[in-house]
Order: sequence, then structure tokens, then C-alpha cells
Amino acid sequence: MARIIAVANQKGGVGKTTTTANLGAALTMLDHRVLLVDMDPQGNLTAAFGLEKQAECTVADALLDRRVPLPIVPVNPATHPRLDLVPSAIPLAMAEAALSNKLGRELRLRDQLAGVQHAYDYILIDTPPALGLLTINALVAATGVIVPTEARFFSLQGLQMLQESVDEIMYLNPRLTLLGILLSKLDRRLREERAVAEYLRERWGALVFQTEISANSKILEAGSAGTSVFRYAGAERAAELYLALAREVVERG
Ligand SMILES: Nc1ncnc2c1ncn2[C@@H]1O[C@H](COP(=O)(O)OP(=O)(O)O)[C@@H](O)[C@H]1O
Ligand SMILES: [Mg+2]
Repeated sequence: MARIIAVANQKGGVGKTTTTANLGAALTMLDHRVLLVDMDPQGNLTAAFGLEKQAECTVADALLDRRVPLPIVPVNPATHPRLDLVPSAIPLAMAEAALSNKLGRELRLRDQLAGVQHAYDYILIDTPPALGLLTINALVAATGVIVPTEARFFSLQGLQMLQESVDEIMYLNPRLTLLGILLSKLDRRLREERAVAEYLRERWGALVFQTEISANSKILEAGSAGTSVFRYAGAERAAELYLALAREVVERG
């Protein structure tokens, strides 16, 4: 039965999508079966694996109509075995508005995932940079949240807000826990980033993953090329970091 993990932070550009894609790929390298769910209308996760052409049927259809099964596509059986994806595209933004009038609007993703959970070891959900209905659906479906963050002073307040949202969601989903905070694009050459990383570890203790993903142009390039760091030349160091993160995620249960 899959462990369902949402990757969330209401701030944009902090590495949610990159973390979801590469952590997902890393878990498959450890022989786990993984489903990635793109809950962002921008469809960046879908594009991160070059699957935007497959996005005719998207997660939006299954959220709006319970009888429509989740559209699941294999990422690429040759390069990424054991990795599947539920695509998203811009109409998901309209679906979010339409969803707000529906019964059980916060539970739609949870109920859809219940039908496929047996086929995977991990389900990772990428979320948009907002705490709206799509992110709430992800947090209601999940039992753990990973919060990627930049090591900048202006990011710290956002973490507090996210913790408060998690506490709030527990009203609908008492099993939800904060699995970990991830320094997802850390540049240790910058004094501010070193200071914030240190502060984060003081403030949040063991909740901060030991593994720090360094800012690395190969990570950006792999995403633009439509693949993970495991299939991108020169990204070996980044691949090791995501593997270390995957091991920590597995250990945290
Ligand atoms: N560790 C990293 N090193 C370099 N660039 C990164 C790293 N992580 C993410 N990025 C880049 O930063 C940008 C924002 O990341 P993304 O994952 O799209 O954030 P979000 O999903 O939170 O908006 C993207 O261009 C991505 O390629
Ligand atoms: Mg994103």
C-alpha cells in the first residue's frame, strides 16, 4: 500500500516540482514503484518528463467526475521503469473553480488515489504555489508533507504558515504529519544561505532533512531537457543527493 506524500510550499520557485520529479525517480532507483501526481495547473511536473503531449486527459477530469478514473501514463519504460505520472494542464485552474461548488470537494483526490494505492509503494503529489483547493486536496490525500525551501530569510515566515495549514488540515485528515523540510537549492557559498540553513536546523531540529540539495545547474538543465538527474549527463553528483534524500524518506516511514 503506497505511502502518499505531498510536496508543498505556498511560495513559488522553491523547488517543489524539481523535488517531486527527482525524488520520485530516486525512489524507483531503490526499486520502489512510484506514482507522481501533478496538481499544478502549470503542468511543470508533466513537462519535467516531456509528457505535456499526453495531457489530453488530466487529473482535472478525475477530480470533477468521480466516475472518470485517474489518467495514469508511464513516464518512459526504457529510461524510467516503475515510474508513472498523472498529468496536469492549464484547464486544471478552471477545474479548481468548478470543484469549489461540488460535494466533498476537499476529498476528491484522496478518493481517487484510494483506487490505485495498492499498485505503488510511493505516491508523490506536486502542488501549486498556493494554499487553495488543489493543495488542500493533496494534503487531505497525503499522510506526509515534504516542504522544500530556499535558504533565504524571506522564506522562513512561509514555513510557519505551512505548519499552521497542516494543523488546520488535520481536522479533515488527522493522519497528516510534516515529514520533513528540505533545503532544495542551497548555495553554501552565500553567507545568507549558510546562516538561514543553520537557523532552520536550530528552529526545526530533526525535521530538516540531513540531505541538502545544492544549487546545481545540472538539476535545472535536466528538468528543461524533460528528464530526471538520473538520466542527464553530468548530473551524477545531483543524482547522489536525491538518492540520499530518498533513503531518508524511506527511513522516516
Ligand atoms: N537544486 C537546484 N539547483 C538549481 N536549480 C534548481 C534546483 N532546484 C530547482 N531548481 C530550478 O529552480 C526553478 C524553480 O524550481 P521548481 O521546482 O519549478 O519550483 P516550484 O515547483 O516550487 O515552483 C526551476 O527552474 C528549477 O529548475
Ligand atoms: Mg512547481
